Amino acid sequence: MKGVVLAGGTGSRLSPLTKITNKHLLPIYDKPMIYYPIRTLVDAGIQDILIVTGGKNSGDFLRLLGNGKDFGLKHLNYTYQEGEGGIADALALAEHFADGGGICVVLGDNIVEKSIREAVDSFRRQERGARILLKEVPDAERFGVAEIEGDRIAGIEEKPARPKSNYAVTGIYMYDATVFEKIHTLVPSARNELEITDVNNAFIREGTMAFSFLDGWWTDAGTFDSQLRATNLVARTQGSVSAEVFPESPIPGR
Ligand code: DAU
Repeated sequence: MKGVVLAGGTGSRLSPLTKITNKHLLPIYDKPMIYYPIRTLVDAGIQDILIVTGGKNSGDFLRLLGNGKDFGLKHLNYTYQEGEGGIADALALAEHFADGGGICVVLGDNIVEKSIREAVDSFRRQERGARILLKEVPDAERFGVAEIEGDRIAGIEEKPARPKSNYAVTGIYMYDATVFEKIHTLVPSARNELEITDVNNAFIREGTMAFSFLDGWWTDAGTFDSQLRATNLVARTQGSVSAEVFPESPIPGR
């Protein structure tokens, strides 16, 4: 299976930090944000990876990542998203790269504690369709939210004011090649983006959406608060900071 990291968009919620650089190049503790989703894919056994980026600083990704030596890779693929037409618009650029096979997509601002290999292996065994990773959160209204009925997902709502469950749809998605046909039928949402939630709902309607629960902590890093949270979680998990930095204790979400 191939992997795709989506690192386009404007990162406007992190302005002015994103005025002169791309959101995914900002630090999360001791590494640039983009390192984490790449590591997630590599740790799941995925070696053939495409980075989708955009904006004025896209050249910096090449300078930072090169051919992926820091991740033990021999090669990395890159493509460029014109504008910021949404997550599904960025994913559409991976059609040629996917070449008719399955893909594992990770959003460039999503950071996880534990390996996703088990879910990736389950998807490998799945004949067709899609698989998403869910995580129980206290603030589901910030995310895509899954309504679960027994062993299936009945539907996903994007940032609902009144979430039907506490299960956020994390930014880790696995798709068969029909994902691109589904993207081509989408129309822009109220925020003028092609929504990944609409893609996922198309798989749900078709009856081919599976799901797994994510192990360990998970966070995005697209706002000031979540970027700080991500840094704290990474630092504490690595155990590489002195106790003075975090006088209070447990890791939230664990
Ligand atoms: O973090 C998980 C959430 O990510 C999901 O629960 C939501 O269903 C999903 O819509 C998404 O929500 P956000 O509103 O937080 O997504 P955001 O616009 O911050 O974009 C997340 C990443 O997707 C971003 O770091 C880079 C990539 N992206 C986004 C856009 C809008 C692109 O590559 N191109 C884009 O045009």
